[in-house]
Amino acid sequence: MLKTGKNLRRRLGQGALLGALMIAVVSAPVRVHGEGAMGDAPVRHVADLRLWVLSTERTSYVMGLNERDELQTLYWGERLGSDHDLSAAHSRGEHASFDSPETMTNLEYPGWGGRYYSEPALKVTLASGVRDLVLKYVSQEIRGDTLEIRLKDIQYDLFVKLTYKVFPKEDMIRKQAEIDNRTPQVVTVESAQSGAWYVPAGEGYRLTYLTGRWAGETQLTREPILPGKKVLESRRGNTSHQLNPWFAIDARGEADEEHGRVWFGALGWSGNWKLVVEDTPPAHQVRVTGGYNDFDFSWPLAPGESLSTPPYYGGFSRQGFGEASRLLHRFERDEILPDRAHPRVRPVLYNSWEATEFNVSEAGQKALAEKAAKIGVELFVMDDGWFGKRNDDHAGLGDWYVNPQKFPNGLKPLISYVNSLGMDFGLWFEPEMVNPDSDLYRQHPDWAMNFPGRPRSEARNQLVLNMARQDVKEYIFGVLDKMLSENNIKYIKWDMNRHFGEPGWQEAPLPEQKEIWVKYVRNVYEIIDRLRAKHPSLEIESCSGGGGRVDLGILERVNEVWTSDNTEAFDRLRIQEGFSFAHAPKIMSAWVTDVPNMNGRSTPLPYRFLVAMQGALGIGSNLNKWSAEDFALATRMVTTYKSIRETVQQGDLYRLFSPREGELTANQYVSADGKQAVLFAFLHSQQYLRPAPTVCLRGLDGKAAYRIKSLDGKLVEKQEVLSGSFLMHHGLNLNLRGDYDSTVVILEKAE
Ligand code: DGJ
Repeated sequence: MLKTGKNLRRRLGQGALLGALMIAVVSAPVRVHGEGAMGDAPVRHVADLRLWVLSTERTSYVMGLNERDELQTLYWGERLGSDHDLSAAHSRGEHASFDSPETMTNLEYPGWGGRYYSEPALKVTLASGVRDLVLKYVSQEIRGDTLEIRLKDIQYDLFVKLTYKVFPKEDMIRKQAEIDNRTPQVVTVESAQSGAWYVPAGEGYRLTYLTGRWAGETQLTREPILPGKKVLESRRGNTSHQLNPWFAIDARGEADEEHGRVWFGALGWSGNWKLVVEDTPPAHQVRVTGGYNDFDFSWPLAPGESLSTPPYYGGFSRQGFGEASRLLHRFERDEILPDRAHPRVRPVLYNSWEATEFNVSEAGQKALAEKAAKIGVELFVMDDGWFGKRNDDHAGLGDWYVNPQKFPNGLKPLISYVNSLGMDFGLWFEPEMVNPDSDLYRQHPDWAMNFPGRPRSEARNQLVLNMARQDVKEYIFGVLDKMLSENNIKYIKWDMNRHFGEPGWQEAPLPEQKEIWVKYVRNVYEIIDRLRAKHPSLEIESCSGGGGRVDLGILERVNEVWTSDNTEAFDRLRIQEGFSFAHAPKIMSAWVTDVPNMNGRSTPLPYRFLVAMQGALGIGSNLNKWSAEDFALATRMVTTYKSIRETVQQGDLYRLFSPREGELTANQYVSADGKQAVLFAFLHSQQYLRPAPTVCLRGLDGKAAYRIKSLDGKLVEKQEVLSGSFLMHHGLNLNLRGDYDSTVVILEKAE
């Protein structure tokens, strides 16, 4: 409850007192819709202590109102047994005149105001010039697994609605904020974060995150968290290859793949994002604040307007990084992906890019399609080169009509042929881009983002369309919708091959021009959402020159992602391992391609297949160059993949041996019903005739028996049936030799 004594009056000033009293009035009756304080409900309000307890199956998240009516984070971690152990929130006292209580207290959603010195969740400037924001509790509402808490500035009618959704099975919680201007003046938002995740105070934490670049995405990176800030971000307009909006934190030395506490989080946003990992004195309080990147950000809210932030997800595992990843994979499959209600296994696809590049034609694609169908491909995707004057990357982007020289009768004959071979047809687009050498650019040069009179930096000879503009958005939607309506296209590969440059938007009023970063992404999302609504069987692949747009925002809208333009199988092991820390194997598109590949490396075809079979299998080879033996092997591999893909895509992943650590990489997948397990193993380069280490499996039923199938005889154990306990404790020995050897072992639980 707000105090209205002399101190408060001094702090707020007389004029503000009315506002403060109003808060006192609205905050007085706390509505309780939850079950009793001891119930099992995902959201509970412990009214007498002014606490909220969010519970998943194995975790608890506790927040409370302190004596100043601020919302404070109290606990996040392993599930607590009883509410009786909890006590009411109290702000931390001032440590010294240099460490204010508001900075020392773990505020759930700190406004920048008073003496707040850590990363704020919200920073604003009012038209009057006031830049002080102090958010206090107003009201709450509980609806099943969702909690809404409203905060308000101590003086102005500037509200923030915090929404929490609990995902009990996956041990995850989603936070989101909505900033609502009910004042009579314009409020300019300068930083809008979705919230902060706090781990228990103390030293010695370690940060795990994903770094990368084009053709080298999702590299697992680890470092100690030390006092100060570590900023992970994108300023590039999309998610980026360079950093992925995901983090994991463990106490150094405590967690490994299978043991120890790991706190993790991810943002659902495909534009400029920011995660600030901060260790603040004096308690070494580590927090991760995340939301829109506030770099070049400014969002004026007129009276009555609101701004919502991206979803910010957090989860906790007490069984190490392996379990943290499995929780996230389950979460993506069950709660994020478009097929979450009715999961569908990913089809085996063929993609023409590495075989033909821009040199596509009806006859050439038909020849590839015929060969692809013979080895069991289910989806044939024609990549770049089919439209406009697209003979290389200098021209054509923006002209989304079929190139009449390459396809004199349109795409229909090719699509019908592909369909007659029993495959669906997919097509590549790069909707957000334009080549200066295109009809679209000649007609609408102003559609490319730029600052008037300034250079327009090209990358891959292309410019970025300003998708924040309504007319551009409608045009792109119309073009895609027309193609989908007129042709039996079941799949779009949606590419984006450069980042923003000169992000000007001169048509918008000056104060709103920086909204381009957010409105662009919202409009891309809107186009995809509308296309999917209008063409319900459409599936989409998110690609940005490889894995440049992979995050929980785009994943609500696409069925798979292109992991990397680097399809070299040995490099892929590390890219895929990093990917698997944050994202599900189901969405990880992985192709078998030709050798020598990047780095000039050549690996055997079985190795390339087994690497790609650990995700959504695709083939990108030039099938015109394959031998009869290659086709025979590929047919066997695709058949095998189809017999295990449900396990790979919908099951649990156990990373057994990391490609970062030794000569062997091994990954195991266990089906959701526990009836099948698959082990993939890869030897990089054998030295001194050293045998591969014994591989102990995980996640099996110790008491059950498993029928073992080795497809290539590389298993040392010759028994046909082995017990789960033997497999997990004694383990399997693999006769792998030389360079780039590999094997797969399939285990079926005996009834
Ligand atoms: C980049 C993608 O990552 C490739 O797979 C391919 O689609 C090319 N663009 C086509 O230009």
